Amino acid sequence: MRQRCFTCGTHYPLDQVLYTCAQCGCVLEIELDVSECVAESLSGAGVWRYARFLPVDAGRRVSLSEGDTGLHACERLGSEFGIPHLFVKNEGENPTGSFKDRGMTVGVTRAVQLGAKAVACASTGNTAASLSAYAARAGLRAIVLVPSGQVAVGKIAQSVIHGGEIVQIEGNFDDAMRVVQQLSLDTGDVYLLNSINPFRLEGQKTLAYEICESLGTSPDVVVLPMGNAGNISAIWKGFQEFKAAGMIDCLPRMIGVQAENAAPLVAALAETDPDVCHLSDPETVATAIRIGAPVNWRKAIAAVRESGGCAGTVSDAEILAAQRDLARKEGRFVEPASAAPIAWLRKNGLSDAETVVCVATGHGLKDPDAVLREAPRFTTAHPTLASLKEALNIQ
Ligand code: F0G
Repeated sequence: MRQRCFTCGTHYPLDQVLYTCAQCGCVLEIELDVSECVAESLSGAGVWRYARFLPVDAGRRVSLSEGDTGLHACERLGSEFGIPHLFVKNEGENPTGSFKDRGMTVGVTRAVQLGAKAVACASTGNTAASLSAYAARAGLRAIVLVPSGQVAVGKIAQSVIHGGEIVQIEGNFDDAMRVVQQLSLDTGDVYLLNSINPFRLEGQKTLAYEICESLGTSPDVVVLPMGNAGNISAIWKGFQEFKAAGMIDCLPRMIGVQAENAAPLVAALAETDPDVCHLSDPETVATAIRIGAPVNWRKAIAAVRESGGCAGTVSDAEILAAQRDLARKEGRFVEPASAAPIAWLRKNGLSDAETVVCVATGHGLKDPDAVLREAPRFTTAHPTLASLKEALNIQ
């Protein structure tokens, strides 16, 4: 295995610490010879079941038992949308309640193997929670930059309890991302674990492997929210590798969803040959994906185009309606960003797909405010049967 520039193809050894290509400045990826991975005899559970596809020493792993999340059939929504087999891959079942744990187990393992004393990230909340937990597990210092006042309360609470050092940046996520990169380059011993880090994305690709193993084949379509755009890139890489390893014989179309007023990738994809992907003031109720300058934009555009997929937007109202849909019709409580794929399916339909997997990226409990802002007024009653029946309108 080695590191490779996603744009110019320059190679770097696996043990070299760098985040972008020294030649052209673009993001890196891990190059892997799948023929060496002998996929037939996989064993174990979760992310580390796929250890031979991962670029770190599994013997010294930092793990909280991540991965192995449920792939749940959604019959009611499926029949409403006219999709014969609609599934939700519920990443809220991970240790800190989001897909970030898949990447963080690999990223923090590498940090330990490099001898780093501190790990850092900029975050809209979930990466912060996950980084803080895995750093605690490994005994490392966790530095977390968040956009001031823009992070859901549950995610902040997670970072606090795990001992993350939270710095509120007076700016948005993109400002925090820029300055944390400067910090890691400046000091050298602060290991950066945003999705610009290709080792972290290697952990996240296992979501694709799990879907294939659960279904026994590739789905026709995967729909997921896009923010910094690491996840769509990682998952697409996972499907391609599983096909190269002979585990599946076709690939899914990748559909990326963004919030209407935070959709720089949808805009860039509308151009033939975009050379920039940037929006100054992203805004959405789905704070997890309130991002204007996704660092993995080139990878995400490749994932959508190579897979024959597409990207689209949904409004905040559509996101919140989809969040209620999943909770009330399927019993799954996801955070607003994670409901964006369902909102997209409701809006656009998908008549030419049999099997569709929506990635529910984070747990609903992370952002209770998003629900309670919209909540109906509660009924109260005296503690008597008569009063209770009156309150419930039961004769
Ligand atoms: N869904 C949730 C719940 C997220 O937290 C994120 C990203 C995404 C989707 C988008 O994933 O960035 O790989 O395209 N959250 C990051 C964070 C930015 O800091 O927690 P992406």
